[in-house]
Amino acid sequence: MKGLERIEELSWAYWKSQVIFAGVELGVFDLLDTAARSSIEAARELNTDPRATEMLLNAMVSLELLKKTGRRFSNTAPVSEYLVSNKPLYQGARIHHMHNLWDRWARLQEAVRTGKSVVEDKITDPKRLADFMASMQNSGTMKARLIAKKFDLKPFRKLLDVGGGPGAYSIEFARTNPGLTATVFDLTDNLKIARRRIKEAGLQGRVLTRVGNCLEVGLGREAYDIIFVSNLVHIYAPDTNVGILRKCHKALVAGGKVVIHEFVLDATGTRPLFPALFSLNMLLGTCEGASYSKEEMKGWLIEAGFRRPKTIRLNRDSGLVTAEK
Ligand SMILES: C[S@@+](CC[C@H](N)C(=O)[O-])C[C@H]1O[C@@H](n2cnc3c(N)ncnc32)[C@H](O)[C@@H]1O
Repeated sequence: MKGLERIEELSWAYWKSQVIFAGVELGVFDLLDTAARSSIEAARELNTDPRATEMLLNAMVSLELLKKTGRRFSNTAPVSEYLVSNKPLYQGARIHHMHNLWDRWARLQEAVRTGKSVVEDKITDPKRLADFMASMQNSGTMKARLIAKKFDLKPFRKLLDVGGGPGAYSIEFARTNPGLTATVFDLTDNLKIARRRIKEAGLQGRVLTRVGNCLEVGLGREAYDIIFVSNLVHIYAPDTNVGILRKCHKALVAGGKVVIHEFVLDATGTRPLFPALFSLNMLLGTCEGASYSKEEMKGWLIEAGFRRPKTIRLNRDSGLVTAEK
């Protein structure tokens, strides 16, 4: 894209986000997955205004979310796979979570002036917390499959999932590794959701939960052969993370492994785009969080007593940083 066009597009890029939020939240993609519809038919079933609905659906075609054949609209293949709520790889809760972040992003300038988060560090509203956990569940189910392809979990028997949230990774890892027992460690409210998911997956015997704040309590002594720390270190400052990793070291048996799963920045701190923007998201929503580079995470692992740190790239934005006790 040429220089000025690119600059202009950045100034209205948020219009695109609102279109996808509307699609998920009004139920457009669920409706159009059952059969192609005209905008008038869609408006009748969605209980929306016909003229406005036609404008929205046309914009969705432009954004390649929908196809238009004559006057009828239908989902494109990726929308049908990821944005229809009864499909196994549904990601709508993640999209809705992004919408929930809208208000804080509107206060970016304030955060940059003060250097401080613009919201409470802890999500207290139960609806917001459930949305956040559903979003983690959506992404976790997808990412756990990717991780399983790149990192062999078969040699391990006891996994601790620190900040495991809704338990998506532990559930998926236990499901695909019958010899593995996993413990999801998290704050109280979040574990209620994990317990429900574990029960739904029929894994109560092999996926356990443990309530705790890893900044305040130990994680055990030589109790696990693998510790998974997924999307936790971006909430905290480097010193805090070294402290958490020291506790992981203590909780592992000799030869055990720690696996950090994160959005990974390059050494310049500027790329890839998503981790660079995610760092601002952490500025807005946490007291001390940020995105980090693999070099920074490897440094913390060595400082915490680990050896042989390695990185495994998962996709454009995220990777694993592993090390041994
Ligand atoms: C961004 S979510 C990541 C959830 C999951 N690991 C994943 O990758 O999808 C961070 C999780 O860490 C938990 N967490 C944050 N600080 C924690 C702490 N000090 N002790 C225990 N859990 C913590 C949060 O409650 C939340 O469930």
